[in-house]
Amino acid sequence: MTAVLPGERLSPEPMPGDRVAVRRTFLMCRPVHFAVEYAINAWMTPGTQVDTDLAVRQWEALRDTYVGLGHTVHELDPVPGLPDMVFAANGAFVVDGVAVGARFAHPERAGEAPAHAAWLQANGFGEVRPTQDVHEGEGDLTVVGDLVLAGTGFRTQRGAHAEIQERTGRPVVGLDLVDPRFYHLDTALFPLDDTTVAWYPGAFSPGSRAVLRRLFPDAVEASEEDALVLGLNSVSDGRHVVMPAAATGLAEQLAQRGFVPVPVELGELLKGGGGPKCCTSELRR
Ligand code: ARG
Repeated sequence: MTAVLPGERLSPEPMPGDRVAVRRTFLMCRPVHFAVEYAINAWMTPGTQVDTDLAVRQWEALRDTYVGLGHTVHELDPVPGLPDMVFAANGAFVVDGVAVGARFAHPERAGEAPAHAAWLQANGFGEVRPTQDVHEGEGDLTVVGDLVLAGTGFRTQRGAHAEIQERTGRPVVGLDLVDPRFYHLDTALFPLDDTTVAWYPGAFSPGSRAVLRRLFPDAVEASEEDALVLGLNSVSDGRHVVMPAAATGLAEQLAQRGFVPVPVELGELLKGGGGPKCCTSELRR
């Protein structure tokens, strides 16, 4: 898992200490049915006008950015009547080739889980069963090295953390989210590589903050300003960080640490409370 991206072959020989990109495989869903028809998070206001064509163009730019960086993107067919399906991160959690199906907190999104399960089963991930408790996939779950970090407080329930540990055989570290603006873990934290993360401390309970500081003493701590443009809803391949363009302070912090910020503009999807990571489900074989 240390492949250098093909696009990087033309760049000068990597220097010792350079960050190394790792190829990823993603599942995404084109936002042809995207709309803000209901409000299930603090960012959504029903009746907000959405420019669907613009949302699709912004989404295509995100997809093309991943492909340009050497990653593989698969597409899940959008389903009419599921306006949040573009937020593919929530449909399942996949690690070591094991896919755990989501169980959505809100009935409005329940229909997305079987669509993800069917795609994953058709693409060799075995039987994909939902958890018994609510769990919203990579919205609340992420992998850092051997560990699974798991959010709870707004969507994914504590009981699902135990199910995920049992089904993946990876240690699950539960983290309490306390600010409704950061309702999924992936709005408040993302892995930079196998050893560290970027995060916004204000989104977490005091105990969870202490846990994160103990596990990741050299983590990048984002400002509230950057967190409020969903700057933590970003995707790192270990070198490039695909991130909301508005999170300029965080981009500067990451650049100082040797990462390469790759800004994208997803303003239409922000109306649904999502950014680049929400649109991106990682398939880890
Ligand atoms: N409107 C969606 C919801 O509230 C946004 C989901 C964003 N996804 C994420 N991974 N944070 O469920």
